[in-house]
Amino acid sequence: MIGEKKKKLVFIGADHAGFKAKEDLKAYLQQKGFEVTDLGCFTEESCDYPDVAREVGEKVVEHPESFGVLICGTGIGVAMAVNKFKDIRAVNAVTAEMAEMARKHNNANVLTMGARLTDIDAMKKIADKFFETDFENGEERHVRRVEKLSHIG
Ligand code: RB5
Repeated sequence: MIGEKKKKLVFIGADHAGFKAKEDLKAYLQQKGFEVTDLGCFTEESCDYPDVAREVGEKVVEHPESFGVLICGTGIGVAMAVNKFKDIRAVNAVTAEMAEMARKHNNANVLTMGARLTDIDAMKKIADKFFETDFENGEERHVRRVEKLSHIG
């Protein structure tokens, strides 16, 4: 229908350090009407962040209109892992401004955050900014630069 906004499709995941924050953020995003698929982990039992980052990355690549959210202790490990995918552009955001610029200029499609560094209220603000900001795809220079990202490596 004209004017109807498409539901945001989000794949979310965490390791044990991010499990609790992932549960809270998942509920928050669902409440906002997003379609959220939880790819684990599902307990606080120790697990390896590259495994869940791979699962989220695979889904986001498979659904090009979708987004990923990954939480570990620092947001660093999951960002490193998921950025191995050619068409994933993950930002490890510690401020809302970083999330905003990563969407506007870099067309980031995955947001990573660190539960040991960022509290849940701040995470919600960062996620809000990430999801409410569009890529500036009218700007040829940003489109050209983002396109180049897919051809590295
Ligand atoms: C787990 O202790 C921790 O190393 C992990 O959550 C993450 O912060 C790695 O980058």
